[in-house]
Amino acid sequence: LPDGILPLRGSVTTSFAYTTIKDRMPVILTKAIDTLTRHLHDLHLDEGPAAQSAKTAEAKECISTLSKLKYEMIRDRRVTYVVDNESDAETWNFLVDGLKESWGGDTWFSAPWLFVECLMYRKIQEVFNKTENWKNFDVFAPQQKEPAFNGSVKSMIELSKHLANVESKMLEREGRSLALREFIQFSLWGNQTDLSLLINVNHADMHKSQASSAQNLSEFEKNIIVNDMDAVLEKLLNIDGGRIDIVLDNAGFELVADLCLADFLISSGIAKTVMLHAKKFPWFVSDTTPRDLEWTFAAVEKKAVEVGDEGLKARAARWTGLVKEGKWIVKVDDFWTTPYSFWNLPTAAPELRSSLNESSFVIYKGDLNYRKLVYDAEWSTTTPFATAIGPVAETIKAPFVALRTCKSDVAVGLKEGQEGDLKGRDSDWMVSGKYGMVQSFGC
Ligand code: F6P
Ligand code: MG
Repeated sequence: LPDGILPLRGSVTTSFAYTTIKDRMPVILTKAIDTLTRHLHDLHLDEGPAAQSAKTAEAKECISTLSKLKYEMIRDRRVTYVVDNESDAETWNFLVDGLKESWGGDTWFSAPWLFVECLMYRKIQEVFNKTENWKNFDVFAPQQKEPAFNGSVKSMIELSKHLANVESKMLEREGRSLALREFIQFSLWGNQTDLSLLINVNHADMHKSQASSAQNLSEFEKNIIVNDMDAVLEKLLNIDGGRIDIVLDNAGFELVADLCLADFLISSGIAKTVMLHAKKFPWFVSDTTPRDLEWTFAAVEKKAVEVGDEGLKARAARWTGLVKEGKWIVKVDDFWTTPYSFWNLPTAAPELRSSLNESSFVIYKGDLNYRKLVYDAEWSTTTPFATAIGPVAETIKAPFVALRTCKSDVAVGLKEGQEGDLKGRDSDWMVSGKYGMVQSFGC
């Protein structure tokens, strides 16, 4: 980072980083403990007494380790090593060792926020990795991801109808451009439904606040505070059959909106293939894992049958087909579940970097990817995006766009005076998820 620019940290008590580590992260752990506790009650006898007691004992152990993690976090203890046998543990521990020297602090509040927030999700996974019976358990699925999906079905149906409607028309360049603009916006606003932020919402009614029809997009559009849409469209419409990458964020409505965009990119002939990057293990509550993708295809089909929507049923079948035909390629890379910013890509994940360089265009979804693009630092809001992405401007050759709703203390590329105007309108503008950015590079 340039001199004088520090990473965001929880030790700044006026920051959202502080609120997150103090209040929101402990709640996420409490919910995980609660989910496991409920599972303990539900364990079925038909697994046989021996299997059951091993599984139960392990769940109790997990609950106690998660409680300990929460205790250490709220008391601002030193962060501890990752102690399972996974291949990434060494990297994490190397970074833990360097915290004090590199950043002056190695406790939950004094180390960089990006590091400790990522570490919490890795430590949750560590707890399950150390068991026999819970290795593949997604602690965020039963009480958070799945109810949120169910609460968004109305929006998903609306979105899929819109996609079918657009496809049924023979689209000239202008029509394609208009449709693409809409699907990029659906994908952007889908990012509001990140469950690590919405820890206290009623998942049953998620659809009420979702942008899912072309009519309500214009209402949302005025909240896009940096909007490179025209340049992005120009770039995308000239690709004509290359590979487009989407670095996915949250499962649920956001994923369905992203899949509608990925579907349109193929059906319009803009892309020949779309590479979908998913997370290796449950991450930031709602991030998409390969299992979520499969679950989503099946769940969309199931809902379609339930509500008797043939169009939606065909959509689910088409999506499974796109994966089978290799037009959609689902990829997982360890890099996405490390605490590294994208500045570290060349050394931390050289193969991923080469692969991204073969892409015609990359779409980074969500707030965390944005934080990782700009090193999660205390940039002034008028810093040009090209400056804040540092070496990424050189190391990732593909043009890209970040589609993110603002949910952390960092935003760059604003005009002089814009921050003041936003503050006047809404003191929480940076973190409420109400404002969005369509911010591009290389377009
Ligand atoms: O505060 C919200 C938060 O937990 C941020 O720490 C993080 O950047 C974000 O959620 C994750 O959001 P997204 O799902 O958009 O990446
Ligand atoms: Mg997320």
